[in-house]
Amino acid sequence: MNHSFAHKVALVAGGAGTVGSGIVKALLQQGIKKVIVPSRSETALKNLLEYCSSESKVSERLALVNADISKQDEREFNKILSVLQEEQILHLDVLVSCMGSWWQKGVPTSQPYSELLNCFHDLCGSHFIFLRKFLPMIKERQGTSYTIITGGAGGFLANAESGFTTVAQSALWGLSLAVRKECEKSPVRVNEARISISVVKDDQVKQQWEHATSDMGRSIVDGIVLNDQVRGQVVSIDSREKLAQLSNRNAPA
Ligand SMILES: NC(=O)c1ccc[n+]([C@@H]2O[C@H](COP(=O)([O-])OP(=O)(O)OC[C@H]3O[C@@H](n4cnc5c(N)ncnc54)[C@H](OP(=O)(O)O)[C@@H]3O)[C@@H](O)[C@H]2O)c1
Repeated sequence: MNHSFAHKVALVAGGAGTVGSGIVKALLQQGIKKVIVPSRSETALKNLLEYCSSESKVSERLALVNADISKQDEREFNKILSVLQEEQILHLDVLVSCMGSWWQKGVPTSQPYSELLNCFHDLCGSHFIFLRKFLPMIKERQGTSYTIITGGAGGFLANAESGFTTVAQSALWGLSLAVRKECEKSPVRVNEARISISVVKDDQVKQQWEHATSDMGRSIVDGIVLNDQVRGQVVSIDSREKLAQLSNRNAPA
């Protein structure tokens, strides 16, 4: 645990998902004061609480909010703002945007336009709606960070059936580029963690190419989210070696 993070408050969009839950756990382990996680699913929130149950004072430090922050609906945003009010939190410090899942429903010509829009919304639009609302709240404050989690599939096609994943991920790369440029001279550190390896829940790792959620979370949090040296960068996470290099927990003092 690092005591210099004990005053910080984090909001992790997509924090109940596979990659997001590892990030949430790693933030708690690093001594972050409060981690707020919205999800559209009560079950996913319950599972996240269970996953983080061994962390210190988790019931006080983890705030779970049943909300859809990708809806442009003030009532959904207000659910997050109510937590800040109730807990007398004046500022957010750490924002992580980790939304979207793998899409693989068929080749482009087999799909209706509505499916492309749905995929785009989940993998890219949700990030835009989140950043539009929350990035301005931290943009001009020192010591803040904003991290966008993306996938390597923006730059390659895994197979023809997953083509919309590539379409939406490459758009997300573009959004990341535009936002990093916008914030170039602002105090906030905006970075992108670009994952090109497979991540699965800790208890589902079976193959040598699969990586545990908790390992990925530690690497993203230690190496990017809480690392003051990283600013305006795309950090590619494409190997086990890179995962180990980013996480500093076992480094000699
Ligand atoms: N897992 C991997 O192997 C892998 C590899 C490379 C990159 N990534 C990247 O990691 C990120 C997360 O992937 P994941 O594997 O953790 O996916 P996941 O387990 O399916 O979780 C996705 C999360 O995104 C949220 N989400 C999806 N659509 C949303 C929407 N329209 N509005 C609000 N929230 C939405 C979900 O929120 P709810 O809780 O509300 O359902 C969920 O928490 C993605 O950017 C993905 O490209 C993952």
